[in-house]
Amino acid sequence: MRTSRRSVISAIAAGLVAGTLAMPISASALTLGFAQVGAESEWRTANTGSIKEAAKAAGISLKFSDAQQKQENQIKAIRSFIAQKVDVIAFAPVVTTGWDTVLAEAKRAKIPVILTDRSIETKDPSLYVTMIGSDFTEEGRKAAKWMLENVKGQGDVNIVELQGTVGSAPAIERKKGFEEVIKSEPRFKITRSQTGDFTRAKGKEVMEAFLKTDKNIQVLYAHNDDMAIGAIQAIEAAGMKPGKDITIISIDAVKGAFEAMMAGKLNVSVECNPLLGPQLMNIVKDVKAGKQLPKRINTEEGVFPMETAAKEFPNRKY
Ligand code: AHR
Repeated sequence: MRTSRRSVISAIAAGLVAGTLAMPISASALTLGFAQVGAESEWRTANTGSIKEAAKAAGISLKFSDAQQKQENQIKAIRSFIAQKVDVIAFAPVVTTGWDTVLAEAKRAKIPVILTDRSIETKDPSLYVTMIGSDFTEEGRKAAKWMLENVKGQGDVNIVELQGTVGSAPAIERKKGFEEVIKSEPRFKITRSQTGDFTRAKGKEVMEAFLKTDKNIQVLYAHNDDMAIGAIQAIEAAGMKPGKDITIISIDAVKGAFEAMMAGKLNVSVECNPLLGPQLMNIVKDVKAGKQLPKRINTEEGVFPMETAAKEFPNRKY
């Protein structure tokens, strides 16, 4: 028996109306455009993995773009998501400023925008619905509080700082939180501070440069674990013992940091949770369902000193 194209289409339509065809209509109808920062760190790799897995599990179709740490690439990706008429746009902004024009374009196209991981500076908060991520200022405070409690003695403590990407929210806020806590303790001073762009290679390079000109360093504060791990290589190459000759404090608490702590080379890592995927997918659905959301949703995080590393390591998911 020959079946005409029209009768097949009518049968499908009838099945859909009657609800007899098993198609996940509402879920597969949602498309999310996600503009990621890049692949600069172990943290970022875990964050990307979490978003991809969670989108699949939620039945949300994901258009994913990697900006290679460049704002212009993220802007291009957002414009392309607008042109493709995705349902929702989410992105982790490389830097805090310079988003208003492209976000106004998304608003005109009636596409809601969710910020993940990093915040932005804008005069018009209506340009995004909500922001989910860590409290970076608090992470900086936690790092400094650990240092004040654990670096003993009476003399001056010279701290070198490896900052994250210039102009990014985590670099600005982790610096701010750390400085806020140490200002009441004048013996703790940041003597050198430079960006390592959140990568191992740059962390190593900058630490090598610090060590060439300065032998009087007691503490390294790195804005992420990857830069700390790079710096550990530079410290060892200079004939010193990381974790002993220089106390090393960093942020993220990725597996690589736990390995360094178990080897006695990193003293503490403050947690920054990258597993934002499941929460993001729920928010995407809530936004499309027209639910009211808080403007800021913070993730909860801990602090892991070296002594706890071996016990915690088997529980780590990133
Ligand atoms: O925005 C989060 C930061 O970005 C992580 O701490 C760092 O590792 C990453 O590259």
